[in-house]
Amino acid sequence: MSHAVVHRRIGGPDVLEYVEAEPARPASGEVLIRVDAAGVNPIDAKLRSGIRPSPPLEGPRRVGADGAGTILEVGEAVEGLRTGMPVVVTGAQGLYADMATVPAAAVTPRPHTVDAATGASIGIPASTAYQALRSLSVGPGDRLLVHGGSGAVGQAVIQFASAWGAEVIATTSSRRADRVRELGATPVPYGEGLTDRVRTLSRSIDAALDCAGTDEAIQTSIEVVSDRSRVATLVRGADAPGFGIQAYAGGAPYGLSEQQQAWRREAVPVTLALIAAGAFRVEKGPAYPLRDAVRAHEELERGTDGKILLLPAQS
Ligand SMILES: NC(=O)c1ccc[n+]([C@@H]2O[C@H](COP(=O)([O-])OP(=O)(O)OC[C@H]3O[C@@H](n4cnc5c(N)ncnc54)[C@H](OP(=O)(O)O)[C@@H]3O)[C@@H](O)[C@H]2O)c1
Repeated sequence: MSHAVVHRRIGGPDVLEYVEAEPARPASGEVLIRVDAAGVNPIDAKLRSGIRPSPPLEGPRRVGADGAGTILEVGEAVEGLRTGMPVVVTGAQGLYADMATVPAAAVTPRPHTVDAATGASIGIPASTAYQALRSLSVGPGDRLLVHGGSGAVGQAVIQFASAWGAEVIATTSSRRADRVRELGATPVPYGEGLTDRVRTLSRSIDAALDCAGTDEAIQTSIEVVSDRSRVATLVRGADAPGFGIQAYAGGAPYGLSEQQQAWRREAVPVTLALIAAGAFRVEKGPAYPLRDAVRAHEELERGTDGKILLLPAQS
């Protein structure tokens, strides 16, 4: 019997239920996946709790946008994917499950050398980081300030931006400064006096990306970057127009452009190739059996180091 995590109400972590649920046979353009690992993202908790509005619940809603596993069955009109292929899935729904039927467009072949837990950790974080940096035109010689540098998105931002020739200053807790440094950024502790500390490190900052969502992150960014078209938030989208800065989803009153969506898709195979080549690092955090999704979301909301994972085979 197959299982999935669903919720029938908006609320705290305990609205998540581990239930028996057979996946649908793949229709045209779809693929059935055995999920070996699901990535737990902040957006999962924001949708569950209603922090990010979503259509009214009209029955049990499946959870989870990121995962990795193996293709069990391929529907009609799907090209380039075969039964037995290891894959990464991102931008789908219902990956907190041991099997999931997903659109083929959400599926990317995964090199055999990249394990499922690593593959499940990259979808949303790496694709968001890559798109945001492309949108901000970050490149050689730029000085970039990233807020939340020790998080999943922040770590991807540091690695892409450094690889593209930018110098990165990353805000972090003091506890996590070494991680940020190892990835190639100069750490700066967040908290009172941040703008002065950033100015002490660098007289000019060309672009800033907020992955933290605090007033301090927005204020510091607009104080140290003169061109507001090169300041963006991933979290405070609703407030971005008022500050005259960019927002990429995160509650923005407008959607991603076609180019931005294309960059997000492009990021997944690029990141997988970099990981396979040993040129991109992923920090995995605590792993839970699928039946313990409630605990995983409690941990997500407390804050933890590395990507939280759900491992269906352990349930
Ligand atoms: N718009 C989009 O499309 C999009 C996509 C992905 C993610 N997001 C959003 O981006 C945010 C980060 O996502 P994530 O997956 O990277 O989360 P994450 O892995 O949980 O990381 C969160 C980071 O926030 C940092 N942080 C905590 N308090 C802070 C503060 N007061 N000031 C500055 N940083 C602070 C933490 O640093 P320490 O551990 O060092 O304290 C941690 O590194 C979330 O809000 C998420 O919903 C948006």
